[in-house]
Amino acid sequence: MNTARAWWSAALLTAAAVSVTGGLPSVTAAMRQQASASKPLDVIYVPTPDTVVTSMLQTAKVGPGDIVFDLGSGDGRIPIAAVKNFGAARGVGIELDPQRVQEARANAVAAGVADRVEFLQQDLFEADLSSATVIAMYLLPDINARLAPRFRALRAGTRIVSHNYDMGPGWRPARTYVVDNNVVHFWTVPRR
Ligand SMILES: C[S@@+](CC[C@H](N)C(=O)[O-])C[C@H]1O[C@@H](n2cnc3c(N)ncnc32)[C@H](O)[C@@H]1O
Repeated sequence: MNTARAWWSAALLTAAAVSVTGGLPSVTAAMRQQASASKPLDVIYVPTPDTVVTSMLQTAKVGPGDIVFDLGSGDGRIPIAAVKNFGAARGVGIELDPQRVQEARANAVAAGVADRVEFLQQDLFEADLSSATVIAMYLLPDINARLAPRFRALRAGTRIVSHNYDMGPGWRPARTYVVDNNVVHFWTVPRR
């Protein structure tokens, strides 16, 4: 399956899963619009609903031994929830938009977890992911597919959880399910 077909498969799966919302593919298109930042954003900011955040972290079985990264961390809700509600050792948000980084840092202070989360203003394609035990993302299908080879090079057992989009035909998720009309995909990095 080529990239375009894979994209459409993901979009169709999403559309089917969230048919009650009746408009997620247009959300997908809107996510491609670029906001102002040093480098144009690859995806615009659309927050993951809290119920979906909780489900993603449950699915990844986040616990005290974990270092949880969110690639494109927005307002910081995923790393913050990982340490505050799941007891993760550390949360790391990678976010290109300086305004979101500021917002996330303020949210971490308000949540009382600023000592256990950090938000790096950085391009996710340049981030060092080697310390991650769990990676969360809400990006786009082609971006996920570009990241897949980097994920496969991480330590075996690293868990990856994605809101709405998979990584294409090259690496099918171990689990895909729908929560509150949102699709979640889950992978574990295999032994090489
Ligand atoms: C769809 S939002 C998801 C936000 C958050 N992960 C969540 O689930 O609520 C995507 C985020 O990625 C950020 N982003 C876009 N391109 C990026 C890049 N190249 N490097 C880092 N962050 C990026 C956007 O600013 C935005 O906050």
